[in-house]
Amino acid sequence: MCATRSPVPSITIAQPDDWHVHLRDGAMLSAVVPYTARQFARAIVMPNLLPPITTAEQALAYRQRILSAVPAGVAFTPLMTIYLTDRTTAADIARARDAGVVAVKLYPAGATTNSDAGVTALHRVAPALEAMQRLGVPLLVHGEVTDPAVDIFDRESVFLDTVLDPLRKDFPALRVVMEHVTTREAVQYVQSVAQGLAATITAHHLLFHRNALLAGGLRPHYYCLPILKRAEHRDALLAAATGGDRRFFLGTDSAPHPIHRKECAQGCAGCFTAPVAIELYVTAFEAAGALDRLEAFASHHGADFYGLPRNLGALTLHRVAWEPPKRIDTADEGLHPLIPEGGLGWRVANG
Ligand code: NCD
Ligand code: ZN
Ligand code: ZN
Repeated sequence: MCATRSPVPSITIAQPDDWHVHLRDGAMLSAVVPYTARQFARAIVMPNLLPPITTAEQALAYRQRILSAVPAGVAFTPLMTIYLTDRTTAADIARARDAGVVAVKLYPAGATTNSDAGVTALHRVAPALEAMQRLGVPLLVHGEVTDPAVDIFDRESVFLDTVLDPLRKDFPALRVVMEHVTTREAVQYVQSVAQGLAATITAHHLLFHRNALLAGGLRPHYYCLPILKRAEHRDALLAAATGGDRRFFLGTDSAPHPIHRKECAQGCAGCFTAPVAIELYVTAFEAAGALDRLEAFASHHGADFYGLPRNLGALTLHRVAWEPPKRIDTADEGLHPLIPEGGLGWRVANG
């Protein structure tokens, strides 16, 4: 006879970190920071503002604006990045490192939201990459080619062969994080490299495949870059995230856009998941029968990669069915968090 195990009523993990988040600026920043700060002890904040954060000075000023938006009594550490442009110099890298900037972000020009100032050809940034390699500053990559002739569903896998692999051969000691991986090919590539390469995985790429975006009606809140792929890729990501492999860790890529810029004829790319981020990850891990693997993925592997201490605090989630609000009103415009149909079965204890 087969005994049915009753589901656990709650789960407690070391407080997680978000190794890839967009917090924006101004009114939007004030609206979204509390959600990330409530769940995560630290977060790596992406620099793709308009104009982008390209210098140590700008990163420090942005850090102050983020800290001003953290609710009183909440401990949250933003970890800052700068945006690599064709004009970034080795001296810019050294100054950033000295100011506590933890990583540098590569957006191929035109690849995603606010990437127009991105790198047009990698040879132009060779001195900056050489300085990063020498100083141990990781490069975070949005791993998609921008060639309009390449199908949008193939842009990540083509990037591996034509950009990432040559880049790693030119800079073998450069530490690289392939951000928001979405394909089986990217998982296999990361697994093929013993050291110095890691990847973040979003909750939405673990939970959804491209039917969520396209089948039975176009759902713009599921539109992000890299775009959701076939179910078999989602399965490969889930296996990587739940497999205990230290090269994979949590990065929500929570990317808020005002509702009217998502629900329109040419909508922005980005899923806003911060209000329910850890709940989404728990849902994905539970579906894979791997709740016991969540803590390593969410709270250990990223800190270990960045050489930072693991968090001492804890976060508890309770099993409870609830429907999070579908709209969050902000000072100027509303936001629509990405919530699975039917709501959620987990909730952060203080949520
Ligand atoms: C991000 C954004 O909106 O800033 N959008 C997205 O679809 N992921 C940019 C990014 O991370 O590529
Ligand atoms: Zn990106
Ligand atoms: Zn992002």
